[in-house]
Amino acid sequence: MQLPFLHDQFLLNPDITYLNFGSFGACPKPIFETYQNFQRELEMEPVQFITVNGLRYLATSREALAKYINVEPDNLVFVTNPSYGVNLIAKSFPLAPGDEILSTNLEYGACDRTWNYYCTKAGAKFVRQPITLPIVSKEQFIEDFFKGLSPRTKAIFISHITSATALRLPVEEICARAKEKGLITFVDGAHAPGHIPLDLSKLQADIYTGAPHKWMMTPKGCSFLYVKKAFQAMLDPLVVSWGYGNPSFAHSQFQDYHQGQGTRDFSAFLTVPKAIQFMEEHQWPEIAKICRALVQKNVDRFCALLGTKPTSPVGDDFLVQMAGIPIGTTEPEKLKQHLFDTYKIEVPVMRQNTNVFLRYSINAFNKPEDLDKLHDALKETAERTSLWKQA
Ligand SMILES: Cc1ncc(COP(=O)(O)O)c(C=O)c1O
Repeated sequence: MQLPFLHDQFLLNPDITYLNFGSFGACPKPIFETYQNFQRELEMEPVQFITVNGLRYLATSREALAKYINVEPDNLVFVTNPSYGVNLIAKSFPLAPGDEILSTNLEYGACDRTWNYYCTKAGAKFVRQPITLPIVSKEQFIEDFFKGLSPRTKAIFISHITSATALRLPVEEICARAKEKGLITFVDGAHAPGHIPLDLSKLQADIYTGAPHKWMMTPKGCSFLYVKKAFQAMLDPLVVSWGYGNPSFAHSQFQDYHQGQGTRDFSAFLTVPKAIQFMEEHQWPEIAKICRALVQKNVDRFCALLGTKPTSPVGDDFLVQMAGIPIGTTEPEKLKQHLFDTYKIEVPVMRQNTNVFLRYSINAFNKPEDLDKLHDALKETAERTSLWKQA
């Protein structure tokens, strides 16, 4: 099966080999046009847009997103990014001295920082439970994770798909087990929407944040926070504004507190229905399958070049449209910049704990040759520089 090579649908610079959809997704032209149309409408009549029509579009967009991830629209609010969602929860979470939040040592650095900040303030502890790499099975992962459980654990926080290691984690099993133990479950699904099928009614996550601005390809600044009804009342607004204590405002405290902020351009939130339509028109599940196959097919090849081993079994359980290949370098930032400056390849080289990972992402605009180009560039870099060495 061939990748559809939809490069002409995107605004991406054709001179760049873009292998970093994981950090920042790219917005296809029809979705970007919809975004700009909303912005134009805003500027043509700001009052009507911000106080009347825009709010109607916002409700329509929230309903479309709720249907797409199978939740009640009222349990969903748009946020600018998952960082905002994680901050909102961590700031309000009722932490007492000695409490623990159980997580892994594979989480996104900004989220580690957020939890550390609020846990330290409360005298609580953010537990980055060490996960043994390579992961050999879901069962072993789950066992490793729950070794971090203690009588003081109040909640778990875990990525659906990790950042540097690009691993899809067994959050279904983890959340089910955590709920049996009476813990609050919070899943960081920044990479999940548009990347893997997402049915939040089946996943026992009390709280879930996701980023349509990555794999759903909306413009930047479009993300969501889902919170089960029972946990909504504990959440303070991050920005206190007209939505607070205002009986004449919208319809629920959850929406009012977190949606009703000061003046801002919320056009990116409104593009979700167009993004869903775009994915439907282009048979996205088929495209995702082809991308995934290409990602997986190349793992052993890159590991052989870099002299390292895959961080998990190579298959659908752990790998989707990204792979994080361990690489022997002490200068990841320089290596990343070298690949960009010399070969025009956009690919991240990321630290996680004491390891470094080269993470490639594949989407509809990529060609198999893009990974050949990365392979050859790395080979030549090793021959000409000391930026990385076979491990
Ligand atoms: C796993 C994970 N969580 C959270 C985030 C934060 O996303 P944002 O920068 O959009 O807030 C990222 C960003 O890449 C991520 O990879």
